[in-house]
Amino acid sequence: MEKKTTVISPEQKRRQEGFCGEIREYWQAQGITPIAFVDTYGCQQNEADSERIRGMLDACGYGMTDTEEGADIIVLNTCAIREHAEQRVFGNVGALTHTKRRHPRQKIFLCGCMMGQPSVSDRIKHSYPHVDGVFSTHHLWQFPELLWRVLKTGKRVFSVEDEAGSICEGIPVVRTNPLKAWVSVMYGCNNFCSYCIVPYVRGRERSRLPEDILSECKELIAQGYKEITLLGQNVNSYGKDLDLGVDFADLMASVAQLEGQFRLRFMTSHPKDASKKLFDTIAKYPKICKQFHLPFQSGNDRVLKEMNRRYTSAQYLELVEYGRKLMPDLILTSDVIVGFPGETEEEFNDTLKLIEKVRYDALFTFIFSPRGGTPAASMPDPATKAEKNARFDRLVTLQNQISEEKHRAYIGSVQRVLVDGRDGDLLTSRTDGGRLVRFMGEDALIGSFIDVKIADCTTWSLFGERVD
Ligand code: SAH
Ligand code: SF4
Ligand code: F3S
Repeated sequence: MEKKTTVISPEQKRRQEGFCGEIREYWQAQGITPIAFVDTYGCQQNEADSERIRGMLDACGYGMTDTEEGADIIVLNTCAIREHAEQRVFGNVGALTHTKRRHPRQKIFLCGCMMGQPSVSDRIKHSYPHVDGVFSTHHLWQFPELLWRVLKTGKRVFSVEDEAGSICEGIPVVRTNPLKAWVSVMYGCNNFCSYCIVPYVRGRERSRLPEDILSECKELIAQGYKEITLLGQNVNSYGKDLDLGVDFADLMASVAQLEGQFRLRFMTSHPKDASKKLFDTIAKYPKICKQFHLPFQSGNDRVLKEMNRRYTSAQYLELVEYGRKLMPDLILTSDVIVGFPGETEEEFNDTLKLIEKVRYDALFTFIFSPRGGTPAASMPDPATKAEKNARFDRLVTLQNQISEEKHRAYIGSVQRVLVDGRDGDLLTSRTDGGRLVRFMGEDALIGSFIDVKIADCTTWSLFGERVD
């Protein structure tokens, strides 16, 4: 039977708020102000979810801390994208036996993408008895109820049933960055790229209503946020499930037309359905950053087919060409996987050739990691680890050279940046295209848009001076 998106009703929401009230009273009765530690692994989607977890904990009366030690609750929001991410989580969960021994009332919850895999939740159940609660991304909105059950009964809870996914509006949010906000526009993914675990752990694509997204953005701008990033695993699918005649480009245009001084970004677009209309929209609105993150994964058509990406390298290059013609200064970034099962030396060279053709401003590079249950995990994979590592190093060397050359070309130019913090003696800021710029200045500049003349660079960042 096909599973359907669940829209959480106002009554169900109120029920959860009721549990928040119970938890507040539970602690008040003991004269304790409880504290929480929320640790996030993985992508911006998880960062956004963690801000909701903090919001719900805040509604339950918890203050926040940035260490496991002495926390009354620890929530680890986990990522399943590569094996390494999972190993880190298991290692850190193991170590929590000690913090719990020192603070016996500590409760430990695990959530996020890893918990959407039955093999993982079973392992937690049987081998990590100090973990009190586990829930998958589908059950995020029920966190107050799960926490209440643990506090009241002392028994462990597991809420990991597989579902198509839910949409729950109005979960409270405690944001970590005072300038930059994540706004999820949709959840889940239908693409089933053959290497990827996301569709299995985050369910099917489902879009939030445009009016809910717009009112969240309006509120953020009124609160003084200077940068909004619209999030989705495949934003080009936005709205397809709603039937309102609003696509992602329309949504971007509506947000970009809101009053106020802010920048608008988005992540991530799939090349198979990144529309020319989206490029046109980026070009049209000054508030939309002239940056496009367009993952290509491989430059070889056989590998792309095996990855189930459903575009060819020629189609990809055509999109890039369209974007660059429209916006010569467009900043392009991408994701690439090295060592997909069966990738030959020649096929890998096609990836290098594509990188040389496009000349990305930055690349996120990954070595293929088999994920249980995905088709690629059972494909023959004759290349050795050493071969894959060598390819990876060649790719990174090439990209570093390009990144540095691109950075060098900034020297002498004036860039509009958003000042976002301090790192030692220098302020940190980002250009419209997301490049990191450091310069001397007062803390009072944090949060403002200013012009900086670029004087020097490294592979990773630019250095400049403020111009009045
Ligand atoms: N939805 C986004 C990407 C989400 S995951 C998109 O389709 O572009 C972020 C990146 O992790 C992917 O783009 C891919 O490059 C990488 N990745 C995903 N699964 C992987 C795996 N099994 N091994 C190595 N890298 C992987
Ligand atoms: Fe994974 Fe592909 Fe979906 Fe991205 S589009 S989340 S890589 S399945
Ligand atoms: Fe990881 Fe889940 Fe994001 S698997 S990369 S946290 S969607």
